[in-house]
Amino acid sequence: MKEKRLGFATRMGAIAATVGSAVGLGNIWRFPYQAGENGGGAYILVYLICVVLLGIPIMMSEFIIGSSTHKSMKGAVQQLTPGSPFKIFAYVGVLGALLICGYYCVVCGWVIEYLWASASGTLLGHSPEEYDTIFKTFVSSPDRCLLWTLLFLVLNFLVLSRGIKNGIERLSNVMMPLLFLLLIVFCVNSLLLPDSDDGMDFLFNIDFYELGWKGVVDAMGQAFMSLSLGVTCLITYSSYFKEDTRLMRDAVTISALDTLVAILAGIVIFPAVFSFDMQPNAGPDLIFNTLPTIFQQMPGGIVWAVAFFVLLFFASITSTISLSEIPVTFLIDEYKMSRGKAIAITAVLMTVISVLSALSFSTLSDVKLFDKNIFDFLDYVGPNFFMLLGGLVTAIYVGWVLKKDVIHKQLTNGGKHKSRFVQPYIIFCLRYIAPVAIVIIFLYYTGVLKYLDLF
Ligand code: PFF
Repeated sequence: MKEKRLGFATRMGAIAATVGSAVGLGNIWRFPYQAGENGGGAYILVYLICVVLLGIPIMMSEFIIGSSTHKSMKGAVQQLTPGSPFKIFAYVGVLGALLICGYYCVVCGWVIEYLWASASGTLLGHSPEEYDTIFKTFVSSPDRCLLWTLLFLVLNFLVLSRGIKNGIERLSNVMMPLLFLLLIVFCVNSLLLPDSDDGMDFLFNIDFYELGWKGVVDAMGQAFMSLSLGVTCLITYSSYFKEDTRLMRDAVTISALDTLVAILAGIVIFPAVFSFDMQPNAGPDLIFNTLPTIFQQMPGGIVWAVAFFVLLFFASITSTISLSEIPVTFLIDEYKMSRGKAIAITAVLMTVISVLSALSFSTLSDVKLFDKNIFDFLDYVGPNFFMLLGGLVTAIYVGWVLKKDVIHKQLTNGGKHKSRFVQPYIIFCLRYIAPVAIVIIFLYYTGVLKYLDLF
């Protein structure tokens, strides 16, 4: 039976859900820890450049593919350019989404652990060093990590089974603005801490010496991760957009809001890191050590902690729902499966990957892929390989293969609006800047550049 496609009820609903996909652990957990590992300011500058030159154009290209066809990647490519080999990249997107969501759900499990600890009153009252030990002890205990990861997966698939409109839209509409407000309160609090200037210097002082090529790869991968690019997520979501959606305006709004949340998270974390003499390059542990330290010096710390982890939980689930929707919509569109069956298959695959990732710090800590445990490996290849590869393919497809009048029609809503500067800008970035930048990055980390003695 062909499942009827559900649409978003309102323009705001569609935007809020896309912002919900973009804003998540990528902004609040991953961005600060990556910035901390790559020296701060210069990383952030490269990140911003990536958002403008690659992020917005590639987001637009995904929107154009999805909204012009109301189909996910494979069906869309078949409709727009029959017989084109680009449709095989739909499989890359689906695989990338499964792998990313698999490890991402483990971090969502960590969020539930911290929410539980905040609500039961055991989180606060420790020194920064103790928080480090508490986190390490927790991630190395297989039962607890598994319990929370599996609980998260159950919740994720429950929401998903209620459908796009009811599940995602309602959640996103309420939670995103609240999270935003809370981050602003925390920013003010962090800026009032002693020595907060050192944290702001770290964040905004640009020192390319600290960055290196690894930092550039990380910043580019992070921009793709944060904007949900390259795994066909935004093709899937925009296939549900209403006809009159203004794609460019919405892409700019979504990217700006997403970037703002990441920067706000940085302003919450780094002043506190320097004020409490913690290490900015603590890696994936960073927010889990820093935030409790921040909450406990705020009046009514427990309440702030609970509120924050609840909202972070919602920000995360709106992202995992969008990630899970990629294989689900793919199975429905390609194999004419019922939504229930598509969800069941996706749930099984994701659970396997999540269990392996959740055990990466304990039972499976000796399993190494390219010198990294399973979790760290997925956290590296997801954004830095799958998303960049998907972005490259989408850029080439829309920039070089797709007919200009399809692009024009989507950018102007069928001729109703002008796109005098927008269209040349998007096409230039998609044709030249994105392919060249992404190929250089691939050559860098496959070692070809080093081999050629170029860097
Ligand atoms: N953008 C999300 C975040 O920053 O947390 C993660 C994400 C969601 C990546 C959806 C990819 C995706 F398709």
